[in-house]
Amino acid sequence: MFLVSFEGLDGSGKSTQAHLLAAWYRERGFEVELLREPGGTDTSEIIRDLLLDRERRIDPFAELLLFSAARSQMVTEKVRPLLEAGVVVICDRFFDSTTAYQGFGRGLAEPVWLNAFHRQVTGGLVPDRTYLIEITPELARSRRQGRSEDDRMEASGEEFYRRVYDGYRWLAESESDRVRCLDGSGSIQELSETIRRDAEALINGTGRAGSGNAATI
Ligand code: ADP
Ligand code: TYD
Repeated sequence: MFLVSFEGLDGSGKSTQAHLLAAWYRERGFEVELLREPGGTDTSEIIRDLLLDRERRIDPFAELLLFSAARSQMVTEKVRPLLEAGVVVICDRFFDSTTAYQGFGRGLAEPVWLNAFHRQVTGGLVPDRTYLIEITPELARSRRQGRSEDDRMEASGEEFYRRVYDGYRWLAESESDRVRCLDGSGSIQELSETIRRDAEALINGTGRAGSGNAATI
């Protein structure tokens, strides 16, 4: 079945659109599981708490490994079995977040090296479709205002978010078959209609990257 991921800066509207897409699939009779990263399993939620704790100092490479550890656990425990059982899996973030935040944001690793690493972490599992909701770091920050206090990642500063933004732009260009780049300054309704149209094409087999064989790659 399909594996779909949502990507973008914190506050870009990923969770909003992930929930709307899940509801749309359910209306069409699909069974759907919505997972968030880091998280989705007990172990991964514990790793999430470590990663987002503002009081904790985490070495950048340890950060890369911890995000990847949480993902590895989630893929084994949840994503693969669900896909094999015919469930549509929607992930609020997947390995592209690591490329953007740790690769570009922390300046850690070459995208080519990271791509090979991600394939090891997920056992070769790649989303059928990724929706990248693109908004500027400034708009993202204003949308986050009023939410709870910045977590450890959100407290990384403007320059960091600018590099993450550049990382996502690089992804949109280098993975244009899989990654659909959406203008996140549009309304919630406009964005969800665009995503639904694409999801429809994916179901009908006319979307280029989506073959619904995520579990068998
Ligand atoms: P993320 O999951 O990317 O952090 P959310 O979906 O939680 O983002 O959205 C962040 C905030 O922005 C929420 O208050 C949400 O209601 C609002 N929001 C989401 N999408 C839009 C949009 N297209 N236009 C305006 N506000 C939006
Ligand atoms: P979360 O609250 O889930 O994101 P959002 O604010 O977008 O709703 O927090 C996850 C944070 O972890 C977010 O700042 C992005 C970051 N992150 C990475 O740096 N690397 C990763 O691989 C993942 C999955 C997330």
